[in-house]
Amino acid sequence: MIQTIQWTDSGVVMIDQTRLPLEEIYITCRTYEDVAHAIRAMIIRGAPAIGVAAAMGVALGVAASADFATVCDTLAATRPTAVNLFWAIERMKILHRSLSALPPDLIRDRMIDEAKQICVDDIAINESMGRHGAPLVPDNKTVLTHCNAGALATAGYGTALGVIRAAVASGKHIDVFADETRPFLQGARLTVWELQKDGIPTTLITDNMAGHFLKSGRIGCVIVGADRIAANGDVANKIGTYSVAVLARENKVPFYVAAPLSTFDFTLPTGAEIPIEQRAPSEVTQVFGVAIAPPDTPVQNPAFDVTPNRYITAIITERGVVRPPYTEALRELMLT
Ligand code: MRU
Repeated sequence: MIQTIQWTDSGVVMIDQTRLPLEEIYITCRTYEDVAHAIRAMIIRGAPAIGVAAAMGVALGVAASADFATVCDTLAATRPTAVNLFWAIERMKILHRSLSALPPDLIRDRMIDEAKQICVDDIAINESMGRHGAPLVPDNKTVLTHCNAGALATAGYGTALGVIRAAVASGKHIDVFADETRPFLQGARLTVWELQKDGIPTTLITDNMAGHFLKSGRIGCVIVGADRIAANGDVANKIGTYSVAVLARENKVPFYVAAPLSTFDFTLPTGAEIPIEQRAPSEVTQVFGVAIAPPDTPVQNPAFDVTPNRYITAIITERGVVRPPYTEALRELMLT
């Protein structure tokens, strides 16, 4: 299994996702500032993975006796959209408050254990989503996915790719079409890499080919991950997800979102309030450092878009599959 992130005695070890698929290099974050840098620089990315990284960053900060509020604020300022980041920091803050009467080395040990637990739990949660989601995947068909919602975007196994892995493990004959996912190319560089490692047949397509193949009848369903889901089921995910969802609806192809409960933000009534990260223009004007547009071309580079709930056939969580109307169904899910 791919080890995306791991707590070790020398620090937090993560696979450098900016170097994949050409090089498989692991870096060690020894300070909470190293972890903040890794998240900002996309060395580690994907909503659940950056949650795990943030929790481990908080633990590193506590171990170094750094100012706790500064540690949490620094990590929270790394990326704005994926709510798992804030969820994990909040979980570490709650524990820290509850430990205030203990001696520092006990606090440190408990905080490290908590961060490790968040990592272990994430894999179990993904496997549970896989069990719930696998029956939705049609046999002998192609599954289209966007971005990377796999082992690399989580502590392991993956959300959307976890469902695909579980469907394959249950004996279904499926193959995957991976959108390349401009501009950061998570689909081409990461999804193809990790599915090939598992021997799951995967075909790379550019983002603008998705409509063509959705119309062809070959695609049995679309499965994507999420960075933040509002209380009404609107989903923020990698830029381009919205276009795929609309094209799926037009062609009557089911569109599924796989996401753990830590990706839900019940404080936001709709997706309109989800903050969308704007990234550097160079990600659009250059490919691997080579200019592909005239100098000084004005650029927009929103990293995420919001898919309205009406395009989403179902949301797969670790507690089960939720279908519209989402506000009511999600409220009920949280009560179970
Ligand atoms: O900018 P990224 O690579 O962090 O964006 C990742 C995504 O949009 C994923 O689809 C999402 O985090 C789900 S990951 C299980």
